Amino acid sequence: MQRIISPSILSADFSNLQAACEMINRSKADWIHIDVMDGVFVPNISFGFPILEAIKKHCTKFIDVHIMIVHPEKYVQRFAEAGAEMLTFHYEAADKPEKVIELIRQQGIKVGITINPDIPVSALRPFIKKVDMVLLMSVFAGYGGQQFIEETYNRLDELKGMVNELNPSCLIQVDGGVSAHNSQKLFEHGANILVAGSAVFNADNPEEMIERMLGHGFRGAR
Ligand code: DX5
Ligand code: ZN
Repeated sequence: MQRIISPSILSADFSNLQAACEMINRSKADWIHIDVMDGVFVPNISFGFPILEAIKKHCTKFIDVHIMIVHPEKYVQRFAEAGAEMLTFHYEAADKPEKVIELIRQQGIKVGITINPDIPVSALRPFIKKVDMVLLMSVFAGYGGQQFIEETYNRLDELKGMVNELNPSCLIQVDGGVSAHNSQKLFEHGANILVAGSAVFNADNPEEMIERMLGHGFRGAR
């Protein structure tokens, strides 16, 4: 099974994004995760297109963009032009999720859909066949550094069953409170891509932490 770490730039030092990108380029992380927050769908505001363009200039890894914004349909083209290779929008933020999926497809990039922990996994059923990835939030979207919600494992099992039944090539991503203490279990429950912000960027050695999360030389969680 494919195992990918997508470090979230939200926890990087914003005064030196080039260094963060270069660390990710050197590391075993195959993706880079970019969290865009609008202060409306979520209380926090992160950053927008100029930062994404700056990251794109320095990063050689796959650009995975998670938009926590209302009216995602309005900005699909701008995100694609700014360098997004995967664009993941919130089901809760879209009046017509099918339409957003179609717009992202038209840009020729990968499409992801996501739900917060209070939305039943079954809400995703109509979209599984139409997307490349489902992101299961393991905290409520809005901030880095939150505690992982343990119920995620049950939700992951339910989602994995649905993906196997409807679209086995659909990837599963988990985002929020992911660390070396839960990464193995999440991979075992069927996650393909793990997003990690604080666990990577607060580590003394971020590259080594990425390897630990992937399971190479992993000695077991505390
Ligand atoms: C939360 C974001 C996450 C965040 C994860 O709304 O979607 O990507 O950066 O941060 P950690 O890994 O610190 O929970
Ligand atoms: Zn995210």
